[in-house]
Formats: sequence, C-alpha cells, structure tokens
Amino acid sequence: MSPTLEAIFQRRAVKVFEPVVISEELREQILNAARHAPSSFNSQPYRFYWVRSATKKVVVAKLCLGQKPAETAAALVVAVADLGSLSATAQGQLEWMRGSNFTEEKIRDYERKAKIGRILFLPGPFGMFAAIKRALFRLLNLRMVIGMPPLSRQELFKWATKSTSLACENLMIAAEALGLNTCPMEGFDGRRLSKFLGLSSRYHEIVMVIAIGKKSDAVVVEPRWRRPLDATVTIL
Ligand SMILES: Cc1cc2nc3c(=O)[nH]c(=O)nc-3n(C[C@H](O)[C@H](O)[C@H](O)COP(=O)(O)O)c2cc1C
Repeated sequence: MSPTLEAIFQRRAVKVFEPVVISEELREQILNAARHAPSSFNSQPYRFYWVRSATKKVVVAKLCLGQKPAETAAALVVAVADLGSLSATAQGQLEWMRGSNFTEEKIRDYERKAKIGRILFLPGPFGMFAAIKRALFRLLNLRMVIGMPPLSRQELFKWATKSTSLACENLMIAAEALGLNTCPMEGFDGRRLSKFLGLSSRYHEIVMVIAIGKKSDAVVVEPRWRRPLDATVTIL
C-alpha cells in the first residue's frame, strides 16, 4: 500500500498520549504539511497556534474541558479560521509573483481578482454591503448560472472553516506519517480560549484543537466503524 494511504488508514483519534518531546524539525514538517493543503483561492485563511509550553498547555487543556487527549498531549494545536489575514495574503502572493517569473499579464490578472475578492468579501457595517450584494446576486442568478460567494461574516467564517479543516487533516496525516498520533477536538470553551490567545471575534473563529503526541501503549484503541461505502457515496 502507498505510504500516504497507510497513514490515512492508520490514523485514529488517540485519547491518551505518552509524555514525548516533539522536535522542532518534526513540528516544522507537520505545520508545513498543513499549509500545503488546498484552500479557497489559495487564501490560506487560517492560523495555527502550536502550544508547547507546559504552563500554557495546562491552561489550554483546561479550556478543552479537561479532556484526556488535551491533558496528556505533547503539544496542542489550536486551528483558527482567520479572516484578518486575507489582505496580507493577497499582498504576499502579489509580491511573490513579482519576484518570480510571472508575466505582467498574470500579475495584473491576480491583482484584478484580489480586488474583486476584496469587494465581494467585505460585509460592511452591520452586514449592510452583504445584504445589497446578496440581492444583486439573487437577481443575477435568475438570469444566469452563478455561484453565491460568502457574504455575511457568518458565511465568511463558514468559508474559511472549510480551508482550515483541510489544513487540519493534512496536519493529522503528516503527524501520523511521521510516527506521531493526534486527536481533533471540538470540545472546548471557545470564548475563553479565544481570550487566552488574544483573538478577535470579528476576524477569528477557533475551528478545532488538535492534540498531538505519541499514543500510550497502555491504552487499547478500539476498532472503528465506518458507514458502508454505498451509504456515503452516490455514483452518478
Ligand atoms: C470535528 C471533530 C471534533 C471532534 N471532537 C472531539 C472531542 O472533542 N473529543 C474527542 O475525544 N474526540 C473528538 N473527535 C474525534 C472523533 O470522536 C473521532 O474522530 C471519531 O470517533 C472517529 O474515530 P477515528 O478518528 O479514530 O477514526 C472529533 C473529531 C472531529 C472530526
């Protein structure tokens, strides 16, 4: 079997970890794999907070409702959907294109798309722009085939959460491939954890916390059940 598939099939949500140290090199490889996940418009709308300090881990584990995977993890990764990063990302990509061998036409094309993105993605005060844009898109949709972009802040977070979740999966598969184990968690106090990390509710939403470590040999991981393929797939 291919090593990638092996890591995918082997990965389990591990509930108790051994106290191990994750080297800087491993950490970098895992985080690098995360940011190589696909993202909408390559916008990479997330930030990962890698919590390794013992004292901070205690606080974050408590805010993960004292769950065992959080308490025993070697590191906790808080995956945050980050709407505040969008303009800097577009700027960064533009600078990278200018420094690389991209034609003027390609650079202008990206500039134009980034500008449209900025206009589309700006909800405005009290979501006013979103309401106007939604009405316009609905009207257009009566006449032509169009996709509805995320307009309200809530839709923007949903949009950013998709890309963040893909990066989380990459992170977990990479950890598995490198001999580590993980447990994704949505059981946490989002308000307190956001405050602890200094996040702003306007731009940030915590998507999940991932506990990373080495599975404890003392704990048996029960076999897992999956719905049969035909229950989750429709072939047309
Ligand atoms: C979005 C999400 C949230 C989860 N939250 C928790 C959690 O808070 N605590 C926990 O112990 N496991 C959590 N899990 C792990 C699941 O229980 C686990 O993935 C599922 O039972 C399937 O088992 P497997 O990952 O070992 O295949 C979560 C998984 C996902 C994808």
